[in-house]
Amino acid sequence: MDDPARATEWSGLSSLPDGYRAVVLGASGGIGSAFCRLLQDDPRLSELLAFSRRDDGFDITDEASVERCAATVGGKPIHLLLCATGVLSASEAGPEKTLRQTSADAMLDTFRINAVGPAVVAKHFLPLLDRRSRSLAAFLSARVGSIGDNRLGGWISYRSSKAALNQIVRTASIELSRTHADSVIVAMHPGTVATSFSSRYSKNHDVTEPDTAARSMLQTLDGAERSQTGSFLAYDGSEIVW
Ligand SMILES: NC(=O)c1ccc[n+]([C@@H]2O[C@H](COP(=O)([O-])OP(=O)(O)OC[C@H]3O[C@@H](n4cnc5c(N)ncnc54)[C@H](OP(=O)(O)O)[C@@H]3O)[C@@H](O)[C@H]2O)c1
Repeated sequence: MDDPARATEWSGLSSLPDGYRAVVLGASGGIGSAFCRLLQDDPRLSELLAFSRRDDGFDITDEASVERCAATVGGKPIHLLLCATGVLSASEAGPEKTLRQTSADAMLDTFRINAVGPAVVAKHFLPLLDRRSRSLAAFLSARVGSIGDNRLGGWISYRSSKAALNQIVRTASIELSRTHADSVIVAMHPGTVATSFSSRYSKNHDVTEPDTAARSMLQTLDGAERSQTGSFLAYDGSEIVW
């Protein structure tokens, strides 16, 4: 399922300006922390600004905290934004197997984290991207958020929150194109990655290590063309049906 072969080498993000600045949100997570490790190894990076709920009080469900973190990024523009936050379920009960398990409150809580939160991130962080150069942003989505690819059902809150996220990313990308002509903003599926997020549900899947998945996603972003802004991409660059 997840072929890590193409992601063996990491040579940094060559499509961004030398001295680029990067923001990682959800830096405490399995994938977010892998992004941070890789970016810190890129000699062309000048500054990594990493935020997490645990270490920085960055709570994606609290707009004031998102705005506060965006304000600390400072007057200088950024060139890369990675939003690696998300939950499989905001409820102790875990993702629903059937409609009978649906709870309106649990569903709303999942939407607050997976869809509304990234919209608030887009509001406060996307305007910080450099207007004068190429810039990249990826919001971590999930293949199960694809409506066209849904053949199994289940996980209604998670699936629908990621489908909403995809629409939010697409909408934001169109708006940003008007002011940031060289921006590429995508929703991205990381593959099935060995983090605490997936540990209960990945036993029938090939699982990729976080560093391998993160490297693959960064390479895909680096190679993404301007015409791909607003698309839903897998870690390996393949397009996923909406
Ligand atoms: N792992 C997979 O197989 C897989 C597959 C498909 C899609 N994804 C997507 O990839 C993304 C990252 O997943 P992961 O595997 O790295 O999961 P993870 O290790 O559980 O990390 C999730 C991150 O989200 C943060 N977060 C959760 N609620 C938050 C909130 N209210 N405010 C701010 N941060 C919050 C967590 O912060 P705390 O540390 O503070 O809790 C953590 O940094 C998610 O969007 C997930 O849907 C993952």
